Amino acid sequence: MNHLALFGGIPTRQKPYPAWPVFDDNEERALLEVLHSGRWWSGTQAYHDRPGVEHASRAAEFEAQFAAYHGARFGLACATGTAALELALKAAGIGPGDEVIVPPYTFLATASAPLLIGAVPVFCDIDPRTLNLDPARIEEAITPRTRAIIPVHFAGLAADLDRILEIAQRHGLFVLEDAAHAHGASSRGRRLGTIGGAGIFSFQASKNMTAGEGGLVLTNDPELAELCNSYLWAGRKLGRPWYEHYRLGWNYRITEFQAALLIEQLRRLPEQTATRMRNGLRLNAQLADVPGIRTLNVPEWVTEHSFHLYILRLNEEEFGLGRAEFLAALGREGIPCSGGYSSPLYRNPMFVENAFNANGLPLTPPGHTIDYTRDPERCPVAEQACKDTVWIEHRVLLGEPEDVDDIVLAIRKIHACRKEFRQAAV
Ligand SMILES: Cc1ncc(COP(=O)(O)O)c(C=O)c1O
Repeated sequence: MNHLALFGGIPTRQKPYPAWPVFDDNEERALLEVLHSGRWWSGTQAYHDRPGVEHASRAAEFEAQFAAYHGARFGLACATGTAALELALKAAGIGPGDEVIVPPYTFLATASAPLLIGAVPVFCDIDPRTLNLDPARIEEAITPRTRAIIPVHFAGLAADLDRILEIAQRHGLFVLEDAAHAHGASSRGRRLGTIGGAGIFSFQASKNMTAGEGGLVLTNDPELAELCNSYLWAGRKLGRPWYEHYRLGWNYRITEFQAALLIEQLRRLPEQTATRMRNGLRLNAQLADVPGIRTLNVPEWVTEHSFHLYILRLNEEEFGLGRAEFLAALGREGIPCSGGYSSPLYRNPMFVENAFNANGLPLTPPGHTIDYTRDPERCPVAEQACKDTVWIEHRVLLGEPEDVDDIVLAIRKIHACRKEFRQAAV
């Protein structure tokens, strides 16, 4: 029998998986067009007297295309996904002292964006079957100060929006979908990011569409769209003079280079999403009978899953190996993988030490402190997820079905050879 690659055997997979980002002459041509046009900035002011430069920017073109693809009325492109969260929250009227319910199993931005506009993130546990916000736990996190909920469609798997929106409606809360992982994904045929009051996306380097960095807010609400536009343009008002500032805003514009790349990346999205979904579901089916391996549920409302990550959960006892050993073995078998987040967000020093005031971050109102040190008890599912998940990047799903079959072969091989670890330790 072949040994584990970790102990000198032949690796299951010898070819590399597809690289990310995917690009070709189209991206190159688009970037060069922007370069030679001299129009690098998405604003309009500097071009008023420049002959031969078209008025409409590529940023505006991209916003319109991305919104249309997702079925939203408005798209507002901005610097990052974090910026998009800040813009949408601020435009929804969330501000100092307001509480925003967020999951703890997500990237920091879902919780830091509320803090950056003076609001307070309140962590609520996730569902072990999907790793998304657990609707059954939301109401216990609601207080008289709660103003919004941010469900994250983690890894591109739609959160339970039916139940979350019903709770939000009953309590008068704004729902901001964090769709940073969910480009082109849908729930009951509706694209994610368009179902709540607003949705945000990220185009950071690891995401399913990228320009290195970038973000975008989708909404169907004209007032919210206008406010987002104003906040990302230094508080200007459309149709008013350039140097009139009406609100305290940011400069969160994207450049024409980013927009040109994103227009090309959007063209690739439908096919890439279909490939990732085909391969992700194939993996789910093939791993179903491996002892100690749990794949995530794909609930009935999921019509498109963007598989930003392929995630499985390892039951160390049932599988017969610890996660650290499993990850090391899988990596050496030629399957790129990681354990994902090492802890839920509230265990970060900034929360444990409640360091917002000391760091100069916005103050919560007097008498309004939140003790994040109790969250480990309140969020046992997120705690466990940080110990037992295995993440595989979406690029690995961009190959042929046989390419992902190698993942199954590697995992079965590790299971069959798990005793080699004990022998190696002797
Ligand atoms: C779930 C989630 N939300 C928000 C963000 C923030 O996006 P960005 O990195 O573009 O600021 C990320 C990015 O990693 C993310 O994973």
